[in-house]
Amino acid sequence: MNDISMNTSTVMSGPSGRAMAQPMETSLVEALYQHLTMERNSSAQYFAMSLWFAERELRGFASFFKHESLSEQEHASNFANYLIARGQSVVLQDIAAPNQQWESIESVICHAFQMEADVTSSLHQLYSLAERATDTRSNVFLDPIIESQTKSEDEFAHILGKVRFANEQPPALLIIDNELSTN
Ligand SMILES: [Fe+2]
Repeated sequence: MNDISMNTSTVMSGPSGRAMAQPMETSLVEALYQHLTMERNSSAQYFAMSLWFAERELRGFASFFKHESLSEQEHASNFANYLIARGQSVVLQDIAAPNQQWESIESVICHAFQMEADVTSSLHQLYSLAERATDTRSNVFLDPIIESQTKSEDEFAHILGKVRFANEQPPALLIIDNELSTN
């Protein structure tokens, strides 16, 4: 050991026992757990939507929502990995049974659009909490996520617009279904 070696006790450990550069405020950690749960609920909900379309021969919509379900699971995983990187333990909360009853294709897409908007609001709340806690690492983590979330809203608004335009006419709905199958 030379004189410039660090005393190992100066490195903080987080709740998980991993090295931690900066402690996190409890309120921010709790909000991140809740957001992670929201992503897992979205994944379950999109899976249910995928099945609803598969039962109605709309395989393009079904495959689009299956893909969305998997990407929400990826988002949840991204939040879990971030918490671990910050020395936190990840608490997985209960997830709700998804809705499986809709009266029309338009009501499924409206539901999906509203879920995306709710996720965006939750991300904005996390962003403000991180700013108030001067937890810049969290703001940097959230920046690209918020940007891609805004793109998701746009994507669902576009699909909703097309479904409304189709006005429940099967030929038009089959064209949209076909477009979604190539995504
Ligand atoms: Fe997501």
